Amino acid sequence: MELITLKNNKHGLKGEIAVPGDKSISHRSIMFGSIAIGKTTVTNFLLGDDCLSTISCFRKLGVLIEQDNEKVVIHGKGMAKLQEPNEILDVGNSGTTIRLLTGILAGLHFHSTLIGDSSIGKRPMTRVVTPLREMGAKIDGREEGKYTPLSVRGGKLQSITYRLPVASAQVKSAILFAGLNADGTTRVIEPVATRDHTERMIQRFGGKISRQENEIQLEGGQKLSGTEIHVPGDISSAAFFLVAGCIVPNSSITLRNVGLNPTRTGILEVLQNMGASMDVQQDAADAFEPTGTIKVMTSKLKGTIIEGEIIPKLIDEIPIIALLATQADGVTVIKDAHELKVKETNRIDTVVTELKKLGADIQATDDGMIITGGTKLTGAKVDSHGDHRIGMMLAIASQICEEEIILENADAIAVSYPDFFEHLNKLSI
Ligand code: S3P
Repeated sequence: MELITLKNNKHGLKGEIAVPGDKSISHRSIMFGSIAIGKTTVTNFLLGDDCLSTISCFRKLGVLIEQDNEKVVIHGKGMAKLQEPNEILDVGNSGTTIRLLTGILAGLHFHSTLIGDSSIGKRPMTRVVTPLREMGAKIDGREEGKYTPLSVRGGKLQSITYRLPVASAQVKSAILFAGLNADGTTRVIEPVATRDHTERMIQRFGGKISRQENEIQLEGGQKLSGTEIHVPGDISSAAFFLVAGCIVPNSSITLRNVGLNPTRTGILEVLQNMGASMDVQQDAADAFEPTGTIKVMTSKLKGTIIEGEIIPKLIDEIPIIALLATQADGVTVIKDAHELKVKETNRIDTVVTELKKLGADIQATDDGMIITGGTKLTGAKVDSHGDHRIGMMLAIASQICEEEIILENADAIAVSYPDFFEHLNKLSI
């Protein structure tokens, strides 16, 4: 697939960009807009391939969705009016689409089949299939429902109390979607707090949901009403330029409209602990999702330990944090991140393999990695392995490599950040 050559940056990255809409929130805006009654208008929607897959699946379920660039209008008629699709629902590369959508389909009286690309075919589905079967859904799939293709015959659901075996917002959200269609009160207990966009959005659409410590409660049978959603910028996309601003000499970058939901801001805590020159200004308070402006400058960094409860708050940022750590003084240890093994790629393997090709001192462990910083990176032929975040991490690495790098499978970046190279070029001038 697409192969590109990237040269280092001798002048620094300077200027201002507005990062694209948040991927998790964009997906959910389509899903809730489709099951609510009335019109939902979404602005700053992320035009990444993953979110476009979500739109395509809901159109196949009979929902009228109009899209004009980043503005999307969804004409919802309520959960019960979703229709049996006469085509397979293809989620492309999107784990969020397949897991949350399975939660919705579990409570609907029809049959559907879900597939995705080769990466989706390797990702565990048991984590959603098990609780949804407990609620009464009939779900089958390859290896008894462990992997795609999945086949769902939805029906009447019973509420459950479910203790999540892994900290996963996708699994929590799938159960909450099913819970909206179940009899009684659904309870989900998280081992560690994960991103809470689903809970915030239920409230935004007029629903009721409560949380006490790590237990979330939701009544079944609630009706949701269409609303307006302005999607904040994705902090997981901003992370690439936050790190670039710190490690590329002579840089000063301002990122506007960055989502600052506290369940997502682990990267900012890590940057602060590592000594980054960074300023965060929160925008006027918004009850839905907080946002702000972040300014970063080239920084002298030190190694750190990243472990425990912070992991879900930065799970998608670990590839770019690994690159950051190669440029810090001392050792950085990342622990408790087993979940990296079941992302778009096994990100412990892909991060370590690709950064080693550039000369980094990095070792894989069973639940993370150990990076000794202060290394000069060299050029090499590297590969995204079809994983958008690995591709962007390597593109940022190219900015400080002594020789040029050749990046294979660069097109994967369009999954979450189609304007990535445009933004990088804008900051390079
Ligand atoms: C997401 C949750 C996380 C994250 C993914 C998006 C979501 O996955 O890695 O990119 O939108 O709920 P897990 O729930 O599997 O941790």
